[in-house]
Amino acid sequence: MFVAVDLGYGYTKAVSSKARTVFPSAIAPYSENVIDAGLEIGYVVELRPAGSMIKKQYFIGEMALKRGRAVQMTLAREKFAQEASLLLTLAGAYLAGAEGQVDLAYGLPLAYYKTQRAEAQKALQGFAAYIKIDGGPEKYIAFNGVYIFPQGVGALFSLDSLPKEGLVGLIDVGYYTCDYLLVGLRPNGVEPLPAFMSSIEVGVSTALKEFAEKFQRVTGRPLSLTEANNLWGRDTITFAGKKMDIGGMVEEARQETGRTIADSIMAAWSEKIDFLDLILLAGGGSLEFLNILQRQFGRHVEIMPDPQYANALGFYKMASRQVTAAKANS
Ligand SMILES: Nc1ncnc2c1ncn2[C@@H]1O[C@H](COP(=O)(O)OP(=O)(O)OP(=O)(O)O)[C@@H](O)[C@H]1O
Ligand SMILES: [Mg+2]
Repeated sequence: MFVAVDLGYGYTKAVSSKARTVFPSAIAPYSENVIDAGLEIGYVVELRPAGSMIKKQYFIGEMALKRGRAVQMTLAREKFAQEASLLLTLAGAYLAGAEGQVDLAYGLPLAYYKTQRAEAQKALQGFAAYIKIDGGPEKYIAFNGVYIFPQGVGALFSLDSLPKEGLVGLIDVGYYTCDYLLVGLRPNGVEPLPAFMSSIEVGVSTALKEFAEKFQRVTGRPLSLTEANNLWGRDTITFAGKKMDIGGMVEEARQETGRTIADSIMAAWSEKIDFLDLILLAGGGSLEFLNILQRQFGRHVEIMPDPQYANALGFYKMASRQVTAAKANS
């Protein structure tokens, strides 16, 4: 069977023909004394790599974030973060219903695709483990074929139909980063324009940080990213025993970050911007900044169906096509 995993710095997304799943890309050491076990959302993962006798347990997802000592996906971009990536990918595959020999479609950030592709392929291909999540059954999962694609490009190919001709921009707004690319669509194929594709380190977390700074300026109380996330979207809260309006701060942070994203990408696309037929938005963060990006770019901005899953759905489609084509040729 096929499973596609989009391992974002913020959230892991996995899809198969059976199920789909999304959870924060966070891992924390397991501890026994969980008083509120059963009430929490999130996962306890038990993992034993094939050929090893050692079983290890971890908290992942929401549960890991709540444990406080969570190790969020590091931003060490130079290296494919092997252990954490394997664990989250395997957990995603399990939760999407994978079992046994699995063909894996996997994405890397656009900016690191060239440099990390070989390393990621080597780490994932042939990796096999016994895995059990929460009260579920233990399953053996082995990554048989591994197909690696650049994030952003995946999102583009998730669409059932692309316009036949024209210049199309794609912006994938994530939690920490924003990938952008331009492609020329011709009746006989898609031509990427590498000079106009890259990533910026701005995303939903930037807006959360800006909100946290504003909150601290007013109250003196610093907020962690998780706390800022929990307050995000609320209009009024109780702080130090008093009602406090935070809606304005949240909105300002959202507007500022949205404008930063639009300005940076407009500068990178400046030579081409007047000729763009359409800008497509993908990534969970595009839901957060949709109206700002539409306003900044003008009319031709459209959000993809299922934007947070767009990359995973596209990887799934591209990998299945490659396999079908290879079979037809052999
Ligand atoms: N319906 C929604 N409305 C608003 N925001 C949403 C919605 N669904 C998801 N998000 C936001 O999308 C963000 C995550 O998006 P996504 O999963 O695309 O990021 P990522 O791929 O992990 O990040 P990166 O690209 O930096 O690696 C989260 O901050 C989440 O709050
Ligand atoms: Mg992403």
